[in-house]
Amino acid sequence: MAGQGARVIRCEEVGFDYGHGPVLRDVSLTLESGGFHVLTGPSGAGKTTFLRLCYLDLWAESGRVEVLGEAPTPDDRAAVARLRRRIGVVPQSCRLLDHLSVFDNIALPLDVVGLRNKAQLGNVSDLLTWTGLTERAHAHPPELSGGEKQRAGLARAVILSPEILIADEPTGNVDAEMSLQLLELMVELNRLGRTILLATHDLDLIRAVRRAVPARILRLAQGQVQQATA
Ligand SMILES: Nc1ncnc2c1ncn2[C@@H]1O[C@H](COP(=O)(O)OP(=O)(O)O)[C@@H](O)[C@H]1O
Ligand SMILES: [Mg+2]
Repeated sequence: MAGQGARVIRCEEVGFDYGHGPVLRDVSLTLESGGFHVLTGPSGAGKTTFLRLCYLDLWAESGRVEVLGEAPTPDDRAAVARLRRRIGVVPQSCRLLDHLSVFDNIALPLDVVGLRNKAQLGNVSDLLTWTGLTERAHAHPPELSGGEKQRAGLARAVILSPEILIADEPTGNVDAEMSLQLLELMVELNRLGRTILLATHDLDLIRAVRRAVPARILRLAQGQVQQATA
């Protein structure tokens, strides 16, 4: 794991455009290892775009994105795959596979990297307990509530023990109480040394983050990221 204080993500003058005007303009930003970073800003500001650049799902048009000390190009598939394994992602819509049980959805990343063995499947059970989903292990995603889906998405994102957790509006479709429960799980991961990058425009959630951890709040607007002071 990268040492405390080391940089896990570093952007230098990053620009991005989907083809109808710039979404990100010369964004320079360093996220330190072990930090809890919150990215906020209005809907459409480019939060998801920025996160996708960080987890190597999109590629900057200008500037440079360095993740865990490396800045691979999209053709360097082996390096991209290796780095992606070290990043856990809870995407905006959590994309569980409906034909698989909760257990198998959480275990899926193990299959992808060929690690589905007894010890690792024990970790799936531990994550089910951690997220309060033990009773739902054999249910399928269409039977789950929004909050249960998000917790399953979080468990799946951390099954490979990633160094960074990137969560995109994980509380977008859940009630206030469930938001706080999800936040508690993320704070716990952060206390275990994981670096967190959470995008949200939910001000109540941001206040709750601040009460729980010394978070760094970043605000994205007009294509630029600024450190929020309040
Ligand atoms: N795949 C895409 N193709 C074209 N435009 C997109 C795409 N994804 C997002 N956008 C546009 O880019 C801008 C930033 O979007 P996004 O990063 O999703 O913002 P946020 O997550 O802050 O709501 C918006 O104007 C959005 O419409
Ligand atoms: Mg978004």
